[in-house]
Amino acid sequence: MISQTLIEARRYEEIAEKLVPANERPIFHLSTRAGWMNDPNGFSRYRGEYHLFYQYYPYEPHWNTMHWGHAVTKDFIRWSYLPAALAPDTPPDQDGCFSGNAVTMPDGKQLLMYTGVVKAPSPEDPGRTTQTQCIAIGDGIDYVKYEGNPVLTEHDIPQGASRYDFRDPKLWREDDGTYRCIISSRAADKNGQVLLYDSPDGLHWKFRSVLVANDGRFGTMWECPDFFELDGKWVLLTSPMDMLPKGFEYHNGNGSLCLIGSYDRSAGRFTEEKDQAIDYGIDFYAAQTLLSEDGRRIMIAWMQNWDTCDLHMQKLSWCGQMTLPRELSIRNGRLYQWPVRELEAARTDEVSFENILVEGRKKLDGIEGRQVDLELEIRPADGAGYRRFSVRFAENEIYHTKVSYRPMEDTLKIDRKFSGSRRAVIHQRRAKVRPVDGVLYLRLVIDRYSVEVFVNHGEKVMTATYYTDTDAEDISFHADGRVLLTVRKWALRV
Ligand code: FRU
Repeated sequence: MISQTLIEARRYEEIAEKLVPANERPIFHLSTRAGWMNDPNGFSRYRGEYHLFYQYYPYEPHWNTMHWGHAVTKDFIRWSYLPAALAPDTPPDQDGCFSGNAVTMPDGKQLLMYTGVVKAPSPEDPGRTTQTQCIAIGDGIDYVKYEGNPVLTEHDIPQGASRYDFRDPKLWREDDGTYRCIISSRAADKNGQVLLYDSPDGLHWKFRSVLVANDGRFGTMWECPDFFELDGKWVLLTSPMDMLPKGFEYHNGNGSLCLIGSYDRSAGRFTEEKDQAIDYGIDFYAAQTLLSEDGRRIMIAWMQNWDTCDLHMQKLSWCGQMTLPRELSIRNGRLYQWPVRELEAARTDEVSFENILVEGRKKLDGIEGRQVDLELEIRPADGAGYRRFSVRFAENEIYHTKVSYRPMEDTLKIDRKFSGSRRAVIHQRRAKVRPVDGVLYLRLVIDRYSVEVFVNHGEKVMTATYYTDTDAEDISFHADGRVLLTVRKWALRV
């Protein structure tokens, strides 16, 4: 029942996992069990636990023939690995099991829908693959590939759409028990579009409509779509390739896009009203969401970007981690994100300071560490204001990563140029940010090799990784001008 290819991957990962010292992994972000990880897949609630699968190549810390890794959690913070769920071991997925998603069936089994790929190189595109959608059904550990695979092929796409770019299904069940899924596609005009399909049983699928088309506005092909209702609106998340920057939005090339709008169910059509990046940092891609047991819409993403994956990993034998799961809401027409509330239970050893004057450099007793939750309130000390405020962390004499705010420009910058790079690539991103009633609120969640900066209670988020020595753990504050700073800091332990 379980193929030799999957048995081998499972044997290998069990040994390889033990070769990674515990202190060379993040503590509450899921990292790959072995080798390489990219997109989150099948983020779902199943039999009382939250499952997360992921794009996985166990044998090397580089992208290669895709498997699905597998982990579970009860609280989004403590993760346990399960054996790899899928391997490329049948004709429709012989060259890889690409991204997809999961739902629970009426009989209690879990259905995985994923993209099967088969190499179809061309002179212009040696990496080209034919992409179809496949199903595997299982019990939370072992999954059997459906004998009717593939269930959606080039015969099920609109005229002119590409059979080489047809991937990343996201599926759900409607209240009446029928199934829907959306799939990324490249339209005849070479731009991305999201296709909507329906099915009575999760196995037999029919094309319904083009849910939304890119029409050349946001990058080219759209990858990894997700679609859900939130606070009275409909939200489409996707990861467009090759984006052009627009003001302070979309600076990452392969970036992230959130469209907020309305959904005409009978026409199967989404109409957008607003667009924004999901994350304004450097390392964020392929977001997926689930609905938690208590009704929260929770998002997780790959905490990496395609252009710099190979740069940081000189010292580690693994590559790839996920963001912290984040609770989503819509406020003032924007997507807000906040760390899952379960993280608060991991806070220990609070150290706080109120309205400390920062002028030049300031170090505060007990404010340090590489696994910390740090809340800052930043206000001008007097009418003269200040020109710049920054917090440096993961700091020693050689390294630091920095977040700095310039009130005259209303910009917040994340900067990792002193985080170990020896390459001529860009190490910073800026976002437009404004204080609320004169106070800028920042929450930095730091976990060994990453920071997620939540601005003004979740209005914007900037995420970046930095793979420096973990004994670089100082935190210091710097002001050009006079700043009053309130700090609360917790060590995070799981
Ligand atoms: C996005 C992506 C997906 C694809 C997967 C392959 O990061 O390119 O479109 O399914 O990664 O690993």
